[in-house]
Amino acid sequence: MLALAGKAVELAVARIESLPGENAWDGEFQEGLERILLEKPPEEGRPAEEVLQRAVEDILPMTTRLDHPRCFGFVPSEPTWPGVVADFLASAWNVNACTWLVASGPSQVELVVLDWFRRWLGYPESSGGLLTSGGSAASIDAFVAAREAAGNPERPSVYMSDQSHGAQARAAMIVGVRQDAIRQIPTDGTFRLDMGALTRAVAEDREAGFRPMAVCANAGTSSTGAIDPLHAMADLCQAEDTWLHVDAAYGGFAAITEKGGELLSGIERADSVGLDPHKWLFQPYEVGCLLVKDARTLESAFAFRPTVLQDTVWGANHPNLDDRGLQLSRSFRALKIWMSIQTFGLSAFRRAVSKGMELARRAEEYVQESRTLELLAPASLGIVCMRVNPEGAGLEDDTLEGVNREVLARLFWDDRAFVSSTSLRGTFSLRLCIINHSTGWDDVRETLEAMERFGEAALAA
Ligand SMILES: Cc1ncc(COP(=O)(O)O)c(C=O)c1O
Repeated sequence: MLALAGKAVELAVARIESLPGENAWDGEFQEGLERILLEKPPEEGRPAEEVLQRAVEDILPMTTRLDHPRCFGFVPSEPTWPGVVADFLASAWNVNACTWLVASGPSQVELVVLDWFRRWLGYPESSGGLLTSGGSAASIDAFVAAREAAGNPERPSVYMSDQSHGAQARAAMIVGVRQDAIRQIPTDGTFRLDMGALTRAVAEDREAGFRPMAVCANAGTSSTGAIDPLHAMADLCQAEDTWLHVDAAYGGFAAITEKGGELLSGIERADSVGLDPHKWLFQPYEVGCLLVKDARTLESAFAFRPTVLQDTVWGANHPNLDDRGLQLSRSFRALKIWMSIQTFGLSAFRRAVSKGMELARRAEEYVQESRTLELLAPASLGIVCMRVNPEGAGLEDDTLEGVNREVLARLFWDDRAFVSSTSLRGTFSLRLCIINHSTGWDDVRETLEAMERFGEAALAA
């Protein structure tokens, strides 16, 4: 184990060091991978180093390098190395963070980390929560709590913007909201939920016999980074006695910075907030988080005590974290957050998150000054959207879509960066999500220059 782990660490460090010089993407078609990987499990073992080498050569490189300084696609993520080591430790110590009896130290560390998060959001001491596998699981847990808080109504309805992540609608369906009672509310010119439309939809649904069970606000959409009008949504939910969930999976950790705190003002009024430390808190997958304003709402929805676990209810005043969500056996996710923040200090995280926002702002400025690029959505948190559309060219949207698809393909095949696209009210858009802590301005600028270059070449062709 010592030799194997030592070798694994050497290889992992070498990978991190060589990352900037590599392409941000590598992958293979399924037939190619089947050829080298599809096999029966070997009856007899082989030397562990040989197996490790195979994993490192044939499997692990076949991925988008989400931690690459030029990975701007989807929502990238660049974990800290103490976080990586923490995941190894949690496995090596074989922690099951299910109950206090089974894992008191890990449970306490999870409570410490949740207390940090609660303070960053401005949540009261009465709040509580748990770490989850990610933002999707956090939404499911949140909607279960919302459904129970609403008295498990027969015809529940849920509201979210037309920019909300699909994970929200899926979570609503999983907790029993019919697809035709999931309202996608239109958004304004900056992709923020339209309050007038939301108010009307809630009133119409009440009239039609629905029980508005939850409103889901975005604290950073994954498409453009838009932040919904959190205060106005909180006012409406208060007046309607409806649960307000904020999906802050992507944008929530901006709250650790002064500017982010201002942008996210109102988040503290939500009944629940979903966060993803495996995004903008630089943690290895998987770790998401759900915080609820009143910790009791989770336990009354989830606590379930089979007799086989009766010994775990000894003593008093210790929470069993499995009482707060859908998992009993749980990995020790808090350790990576705790070790990362203990190692670098919160100020380093603040600087890294601020840098992402600043780079997105500079990218927006670059696009505004470019004669080739057009800004399609302003920088919001760490995201900015643009397309190739040279000034005065007077091209139709269909032509522009073809050109921009070509630009995306050239970036994919001929450039080190990894960029993904989105559709903004039907307009094909290139999109940069700039949140990796090792990304510098040169990485962003050279990617924007490549967009201009590939765009001009596509137009000339
Ligand atoms: C805004 C938003 N919400 C929810 C999710 C889903 O989170 P997860 O992938 O951690 O389940 C994502 C993932 O990218 C996201 O960006």
